[in-house]
Amino acid sequence: MRFDVLTLFPEMIEGACSHSIIGRAIETGVISVNTVNPRDYTLDKHKKVDDTPYGGGAGMVLMAQPYVDAYEEVSKSDNTITLMMTPQGKPFDNNMCRDLTKYDQIIILCGHYEGFDERIRDIIKPVEVSIGDFVLTGGELPALCVIDSVSRKLDGALGKIESMECDSFENGLLEYPHYTKPREYRGLEVPEVLLNGNHSLIEEYRLNQQIKRTKERRPDLYEKYKNNF
Ligand code: ADE
Repeated sequence: MRFDVLTLFPEMIEGACSHSIIGRAIETGVISVNTVNPRDYTLDKHKKVDDTPYGGGAGMVLMAQPYVDAYEEVSKSDNTITLMMTPQGKPFDNNMCRDLTKYDQIIILCGHYEGFDERIRDIIKPVEVSIGDFVLTGGELPALCVIDSVSRKLDGALGKIESMECDSFENGLLEYPHYTKPREYRGLEVPEVLLNGNHSLIEEYRLNQQIKRTKERRPDLYEKYKNNF
């Protein structure tokens, strides 16, 4: 899987991708992450990437030309999807994440502070994606959320020990609680059922905990679980 990220702040992407599981996935060739800076494609000698909005109003608007030219320079595979990170997009979730693993290449457009000139959308026709109903200062953190969550689903990205089998959402429920040593900490005991080695009882306990948590914390998810699983 190859990610190409169009961003005015490539260091944000490169820095975050050089650690931990994503850093290792790059080292082992499971993914590659490439950044393209639209500022390198401006035709203007001051390397201007934004300008004031037609019609007036606050803020600046990202100009079409540097973004479109940068996008057109990215070499594309036959199986590429282009995303635009924006609060106006489709909410990102585990299903969208799973769907994205089917592509060989994901191109991600990030804005910063301001909106995109609408003609960027008209020409590139990206799938617009939001990571939630809040506004960040730019698309870099949302792009990293996509890169991280998609990459960890790819074969070879997670070691056995980091398996995603019991991830939240994988069976439509939130994760069950986890415990490790010691058996007692500040008077809080590990539940007895986890200590007796009875795997079917442990499985039953964990599923019940998942259901309890999901009912309490995410009644919306629990309704879907009841209807689909
Ligand atoms: N850019 C700014 N806020 C965003 C959000 N919530 N999701 C995706 N991209 C964004």
